[in-house]
Amino acid sequence: MQNITILAIESSCDDTAAAILRNGKVLANIVSSQLDHEKYGGVIPELASRLHQQNIVRVVQAALQKAEISKEELNAVAFTQGPGLIGALLVGISFAKAFALGLNIPLITVHHMQAHILANFLSETPPKFPFLCLTVSGGHTQLVLVKDFMEMEILGQTIDDAVGEAFDKGAKMLGLPYPGGPMVDKWAKQGNSQAFRFPDAETNTFDFSFSGIKTSLLYLIQKNIKENPHFIQENMADLCASYQAQLIKMLLSRLKKAAKYTKVSDIAIAGGVSANSELRTRLVALCEENGWQAHIPAFEFCTDNAAMIGIAGHYKYLAGDFADMMAVPFTR
Ligand code: KG4
Ligand code: ZN
Repeated sequence: MQNITILAIESSCDDTAAAILRNGKVLANIVSSQLDHEKYGGVIPELASRLHQQNIVRVVQAALQKAEISKEELNAVAFTQGPGLIGALLVGISFAKAFALGLNIPLITVHHMQAHILANFLSETPPKFPFLCLTVSGGHTQLVLVKDFMEMEILGQTIDDAVGEAFDKGAKMLGLPYPGGPMVDKWAKQGNSQAFRFPDAETNTFDFSFSGIKTSLLYLIQKNIKENPHFIQENMADLCASYQAQLIKMLLSRLKKAAKYTKVSDIAIAGGVSANSELRTRLVALCEENGWQAHIPAFEFCTDNAAMIGIAGHYKYLAGDFADMMAVPFTR
């Protein structure tokens, strides 16, 4: 059998990433995170594009070197088509097109959110179809019924902010640096999750809403800081633990409802927020309680990476689903 060796490129936001996969196994997974955005408290799109341009060649070179293969051994180039920042995506797309043209090999377009979900197939024990995936990132919060590699149905999603945004904006209110999710996770470990109460925007559907909890954190801070200017510093761990616990409760309540409704027993998580230690623990516990099988991608495949683009590309390669040179990026 012929080997299928794929170069994958991800440049949708602030990580320039390249990976090499052979027959669906990761040979190299290189991520260059753009730390320059930190001082602005969020991603600056134009800066992201320029940094992708500076980084992309050496990131791809590093991936080829790590995988110990030459470019002539590649069978296809897969890249993130969207959703993402248009200028950032353009850098990855242009590079992929030129590289594929130069090598005379096919191009494969990959949907960033599908790739997050398919990251579960980088595991030794992947989920079985159909499975339910809670997809949680900086821009998305979705409950997806995954019927096949490319056949997915969105059962519910956020009607306002994404949960990653709720983490990041909450962290910003607490004076923590960007990106706030990992900082909240770290502080929460030493805190009491019962110390403060936050509301749940319960819905009759599988949809989510995170704008209310964010506002309630703001009001809590404003009210208490009047009486004690050191309120945040003195309660940082408890605030993070309580806020995080409520966000996770909101995610898992919908997930549980959807699992019971669909009667699907393979449950997965995906996306940057699935790196959250408390969410990972709680998901395992929920699945144990209900006799479900939990699937959690390895930490390095949760936040943005190119290995997930590569695995999605691998299955599209097998399906003969190639793109032409007219492929253009999309933002949403
Ligand atoms: O998937 P991702 O890397 O990029 C997007 O496609 O958006 O997700 C980034 C999001 C950010 O909001 C970040 O704060 C969040 O994932 N995140 C976390 C953790 N690690 C990353 N949120 C909570 N706990 C974490 N440990
Ligand atoms: Zn992502």
